[in-house]
Amino acid sequence: MLPINGNTRDHRDLVRNDEVHCSVYTDGQLFDREISDIFQRAWILLGHECQVPERGDHMLGRIGTRSVIIVRDDTGVIRVLENRCAHRGATVCSERRGNSKRFTCPYHAWTFALDGSLMGMPLKKEYRESFDYGTHGLKIVPHVELYRGFIFASYGPPANLEEFLGAARFCFDDMVDRSPEQKLEMVQTDLRYIVKANWKMVLENLNDSLHPLAAHASALAAFKPLKNRTDINPVYRLAANSPSPEMLQKPQSVATPYGHSYIEGLLRLANVKAPRDEHFQVLAARRGEEEAERILNGDVHVTLLYPSATINSRMQTIRLIRPISVDETEVVSYVFKLVDAPEKVLTSALDYVWISSSPASIVVVDDFEVYERCQESYKRAGDAWCSVHRAVEEDSSDEHGNLIASGTSEGYIRNQYRVWSRYLGAEPS
Ligand code: FES
Repeated sequence: MLPINGNTRDHRDLVRNDEVHCSVYTDGQLFDREISDIFQRAWILLGHECQVPERGDHMLGRIGTRSVIIVRDDTGVIRVLENRCAHRGATVCSERRGNSKRFTCPYHAWTFALDGSLMGMPLKKEYRESFDYGTHGLKIVPHVELYRGFIFASYGPPANLEEFLGAARFCFDDMVDRSPEQKLEMVQTDLRYIVKANWKMVLENLNDSLHPLAAHASALAAFKPLKNRTDINPVYRLAANSPSPEMLQKPQSVATPYGHSYIEGLLRLANVKAPRDEHFQVLAARRGEEEAERILNGDVHVTLLYPSATINSRMQTIRLIRPISVDETEVVSYVFKLVDAPEKVLTSALDYVWISSSPASIVVVDDFEVYERCQESYKRAGDAWCSVHRAVEEDSSDEHGNLIASGTSEGYIRNQYRVWSRYLGAEPS
């Protein structure tokens, strides 16, 4: 039970089939519950193993609000360690990315091995037999698994990773399969920004195919001169052709039992088939023309991975959504290189990411504005509700339990709240 706006309420009273109480975006106690019951139970996407290719390579990540170190240890195993010293709790590692033989805490110089175990400290003789080295290492996040090289971690007990990913699994297959070598390489271009909005608002926005027509009207206008170009990224072509709300209904939205979602068929509206260019040729040479056609004409733009990320497999990019506080969220984008693909595939992805999700993006600034308007109004909303009613009568499900809806439906948000309620209602582990 949570004291919301002066009343004690169960979290289940805050979500209805087609509306959500505004306090789910503003209540600090509820935010703490989300961190412990959702972010520490779900599988959280942290990156790809190509970001830590060598022994000792490490990078910082986050699980909920906790800082973690993702490190390849001396045996080549990827570990996820809490970035919190076992002595007095100082942050041990502050480098976003690096290579080390060990981690040394900057406060009193306790030193930890790459597997998190405590190696030593100054004045070692003052630590007597009663001191247990075994329980004073960096805490290890207990569940770490890879899918196609993508690193997932959970405090658990987690679901089977493939079951958790469900139909959304294809976005990782798609990104890796676009590489002729089926391998990714790191590009040092992590882009980050912080928005003054609740994490759920960011996640809900990223499969909302309708909002660009209003929120990004100025960006769409900037693309208009490209209207008749067929040699450009299909996303730009779609933007340049100003699709109507009715056109955007046509693609199919799929939302999975663990809250992930994607829209299929959005780019087909731009009427562009992947050209038989150099990328096609090199893929076809390895895997045949039919498979190259299938891969390059895949038509999912953004896959949303609840609760921690979105994946744009066509642009070899992942975007990590990291809650900081109830009204602040960090967004970090990583772009990968497809090994053996032509250079222009990477430059096109980088160009897209600069335009769509960098701090300098002409698109993201519009989102900042609407997020902040919503967040500010929810703070003062009292006992008010937000609507997520769009196309509610049309929700249906397939044989795998996925919710199927139109491309503009808010069904994927309704599905997220069913999953949200399930996580919060689950028995503590
Ligand atoms: Fe890390 Fe003291 S807090 S060594």
